[in-house]
Amino acid sequence: MAKHETPLLDQLESGPWPSFVTDIKRQAEKKPECWDILGILELSFKERITHWKHGGIVGVFGYGGGIVGRYADVPERFPGVEHFHTIRVAQPSSKYYTSKNLRQLMNLWEKHGSGMTNFHGSTGDVILLGTRTENLEPFFWDLTHEMGQDLGGSGSNLRTPACCLGTSRCEWACYDTQEACHSLTMHYQDEIHRPAFPYKFKFKFSGCPNDCVAAIARSDVAVIGTWKDDIRIDQAAVKGYMANEFPANGGAFIGREWDAFDIQKEVIDLCPTNCMWMEDGELKIDDAECTRCMHCINVMPRALRPGAQGGASICVGAKAPILDGAQFATLILPFIPVTKDNDFEELIEFIESIWDWWMEIGKNRERVGETMQRVGLPTFLRAVGVEALPQHVKYPRENPYVFWNEEEVEGGFERDVQEFRARHAA
Ligand code: HEM
Ligand code: HEM
Ligand code: SF4
Ligand code: SF4
Repeated sequence: MAKHETPLLDQLESGPWPSFVTDIKRQAEKKPECWDILGILELSFKERITHWKHGGIVGVFGYGGGIVGRYADVPERFPGVEHFHTIRVAQPSSKYYTSKNLRQLMNLWEKHGSGMTNFHGSTGDVILLGTRTENLEPFFWDLTHEMGQDLGGSGSNLRTPACCLGTSRCEWACYDTQEACHSLTMHYQDEIHRPAFPYKFKFKFSGCPNDCVAAIARSDVAVIGTWKDDIRIDQAAVKGYMANEFPANGGAFIGREWDAFDIQKEVIDLCPTNCMWMEDGELKIDDAECTRCMHCINVMPRALRPGAQGGASICVGAKAPILDGAQFATLILPFIPVTKDNDFEELIEFIESIWDWWMEIGKNRERVGETMQRVGLPTFLRAVGVEALPQHVKYPRENPYVFWNEEEVEGGFERDVQEFRARHAA
């Protein structure tokens, strides 16, 4: 496979940001098919249209997903990317690696594929970019037998779960996101590898409402850490902030001139519920009114900590626009414990109540968020066995089109018009 002229891509080698073009060129010295990746991409830049054919169905025996098949529509010009399948490999929780593990994986990938990767796909997987159909089973064999690693998910199934780094190096994690993510991934291997759902379904785990894995926007079931008791206050450290001994926000704004820290302006007046005040030189919080937004904790990490009684809020139904509009997840369970002690029983029970229902009534290629819109939140809550709460809505409905169940209405829905006419002559 020969080098191609790539005048447009060459322009992307200038500038300070690491250039993917430079990287692919370096890889092409070892793997000549990478010249064809650059060649076909240059052609797309020139013609402003993709040069991949529609779809592609490939995989490994036993699984219904994990590999995204792709074929070039100009294979005679770029034979090195005639087949260009992508393999999703399950990543460790929060993406901590040893160089040994990565080196082993890259050796396998240079043996069976292009050596090009995506670290990582948006859902979380290690993405191995570009190989031929006949290499899939040999790669899968080596991955499982030599490395004890598995594929990730694709298709109408549970996709690869992901989490924030949680307790591993964050003081705000309200539960062990990595443990939860790993345990549920193992628990639901069957649902990940063999599509059985109306459409795709994703879990994401964030340790607190800062939501570093963006669970609220990117997962059908978002597990977002929070606490039930009071924010833990270290009054001496609060004074330290007020005396400018510690930088606000861990120094996040140090590059700009924001004047000296002003606790009134930067914390108390910005609290969304106005539940903080200073009294005799001490910071007070009315925790009953605190919505646990994280703002004060984010500003004064040395002085304030989430409460000790951690758990999570469960929100359901986030999705991208197709078909009927983008959705953030909606709050369904305000607080549940999320703990290894009972093998995440509450969470698993809730997830399965959603699946039992959605797998039956979800329409073909209907995300659970759309199913919820179609049947309505009250019906969804009944389906998953959750009592309606004020916390389920941002504000009550403004239209009066209220459905009642017949048993809630005195006398029911069966009415006799003659009996009505006896009182109201036509
Ligand atoms: C004391 C006077 C009135 C009383 C007690 C009264 C009562 C009612 C009631 C009980 C309904 C049924 C609501 C429902 O189905 O949920 C209704 C519907 C309606 N009324 Fe009246 N009404 C009065 C005057 C009027 C007047 C003066 C007009 C028109 C000039 C009017 C036009 C209507 C219309 C168009 C509806 C149907 C609304 C709909 O179905 O969306 N009403 N009224
Ligand atoms: C040629 C004249 C009219 C035609 C063809 C017409 C037709 C209709 C039709 C087809 C509906 C819907 C019925 C349903 O969905 O069950 C309707 C509803 C209604 N019409 Fe008319 N209409 C006419 C004149 C008027 C006038 C003059 C008024 C008031 C002064 C009026 C007031 C209403 C009201 C209040 C409703 C009920 C709306 C609702 O239920 O939400 N209409 N009309
Ligand atoms: S989501 Fe919260 S707990 Fe997780 S890493 Fe971000 S700030 Fe820390
Ligand atoms: S976490 Fe948010 S709502 Fe609660 S006290 Fe701090 S700023 Fe106010």
